[in-house]
Amino acid sequence: MNITIVGSGYVGLVAGACFAEMGNYVSCVDKDIIKINNLKEGVIPIYEPGLSKMVKENIKKENINFTTNLESGIKGAEIVFIAVGTPMGADGSADLKYVLSVAKEIGEKMQDNIIIVDKSTVPVGTADKVRSVVESELKKRNSNLSFDIVSNPEF
Ligand SMILES: NC(=O)c1ccc[n+]([C@@H]2O[C@H](COP(=O)([O-])OP(=O)(O)OC[C@H]3O[C@@H](n4cnc5c(N)ncnc54)[C@H](O)[C@@H]3O)[C@@H](O)[C@H]2O)c1
Repeated sequence: MNITIVGSGYVGLVAGACFAEMGNYVSCVDKDIIKINNLKEGVIPIYEPGLSKMVKENIKKENINFTTNLESGIKGAEIVFIAVGTPMGADGSADLKYVLSVAKEIGEKMQDNIIIVDKSTVPVGTADKVRSVVESELKKRNSNLSFDIVSNPEF
């Protein structure tokens, strides 16, 4: 399958590498250009035993690639995972601004019918918020593309 992971941190990078190892074609998107340039060279920003070898092997097999460009990163994707951070807000609740900002960008840039997976750890009801943001962007574009939302938070 063609899979895109938006957010190449602890959760997104590990998920992306494992999906690639299973034979999927994975595009990892992150807005951090230094992180992406390092990942393209197989330089892993976190300590996770075996991950560096897995990423390097899958870069060679062309099962995984890294980009800062969400538009090209989601081109041809069947499933798009949102795996960005959800830092704790002042009241202790998860701050959804990064998740919703990615949802907006997906709605602006998607060119295919896709399944969007909320992989970030988010409260119940977030799938409805993500749906509403993506729908609103598609409406602005007069687009009849369709999408489904799956909730698969990392724990
Ligand atoms: N790290 C863990 O062990 C762990 C465990 C369980 C759940 N979680 C949850 O998983 C989610 C991700 O956590 P993490 O630890 O992987 O975070 P992280 O900070 O390591 O990675 C998040 C990445 O998202 C990128 N990002 C932010 N906004 C972006 C955007 N608009 N477009 C593209 N990339 C963007 C950041 O540059 C960063 O590289 C959070 O909801 C967290 O609570 C994490």
